[in-house]
Amino acid sequence: MAQADSGRALVVGGDSLVGSALQEHCRKMGMAVDATSRRPGAGLPFDLSDPDFAPLGRADYRMAFLCAAVTSMQACQQDPDGSRRINVENTLALARRLADRGVHMVFLSSSQVFDGETPAPAEDAPRAPKNEYGRQKLAVEEAIAREDLPAAILRPTKVLADRPVGVFKGWFEALSQGRKAQAATNMALSPVMVADVAEAAWRLAEARHRGIWHTGSSDAIGYFDAARLMAEKRHLPLDLVEGQDVTEAQVPSIFRHRYVTIGCDKIGRSLGLPAKRARDILDALFEGFPR
Ligand SMILES: NC(=O)c1ccc[n+]([C@@H]2O[C@H](COP(=O)([O-])OP(=O)(O)OC[C@H]3O[C@@H](n4cnc5c(N)ncnc54)[C@H](OP(=O)(O)O)[C@@H]3O)[C@@H](O)[C@H]2O)c1
Repeated sequence: MAQADSGRALVVGGDSLVGSALQEHCRKMGMAVDATSRRPGAGLPFDLSDPDFAPLGRADYRMAFLCAAVTSMQACQQDPDGSRRINVENTLALARRLADRGVHMVFLSSSQVFDGETPAPAEDAPRAPKNEYGRQKLAVEEAIAREDLPAAILRPTKVLADRPVGVFKGWFEALSQGRKAQAATNMALSPVMVADVAEAAWRLAEARHRGIWHTGSSDAIGYFDAARLMAEKRHLPLDLVEGQDVTEAQVPSIFRHRYVTIGCDKIGRSLGLPAKRARDILDALFEGFPR
């Protein structure tokens, strides 16, 4: 075995939203970082659909963050076998190899392991995923517990980038160009900033925590209210924000939760990372959007 390099972290899925923030956070904390990528020349080459583990065996890692996954719930639903190979079978094959080498891991799970019918479920609340993505996250969580793998399981709610992406980008561009922005009146989000997820994951790894941990906001905000807040904060035309109920055809109910917040007391208490209010998170986010 090579000489221990106690200051090195491995980010599996370095191009992901969370993986990118984790690389930055680790470097800020003075750690060397290796990150995997499927892009040629962008990092350690690694593809979970047909993994060659050799590139990951060349250094000794103090911690590893398992971020790579098929993250689209629709894609998992459409290709359960292919996505399960990536999200469950090969993720676990990797986790077992890292465990054999004594690497402490953080596995990025999801609040989708719940059915969303209970407000603010705690870490030990019964899990009952409604879709394939959630079932795959649950399968990994169960294997980590069953096999006693050295890993913390971190379940974020809705992770937000610090720039306009996804639905926020759509609203922002529409309103900036004087077009209508349509936002759901029957769906809510519990946001958490990507930098806060990275900090939580890093602290879990650094202290070699195990078990399940939640990170999200302390309350929820409706998408329509979020769009109105964006317009207010950015001085964009509020009357162009239109509310509409999302239909079953647009977003099937298996991908929706009635209650989107999850109980985050444990991480607040144990790691000193209290959950923030959804509105405060979005206030700060929209404040930083380009002018
Ligand atoms: N974002 C959220 O709101 C959220 C919430 C809860 C949990 N999570 C979990 O947190 C983790 C990170 O999420 P994220 O939103 O940061 O992810 P993301 O931005 O959607 O990126 C997913 C990453 O996985 C990589 N990937 C996909 N298939 C792969 C394969 N076969 N082999 C290797 N890499 C593969 C992708 O590589 P390419 O760049 O090459 O496509 C991409 O870099 C995921 O496990 C996700 O399930 C995310």
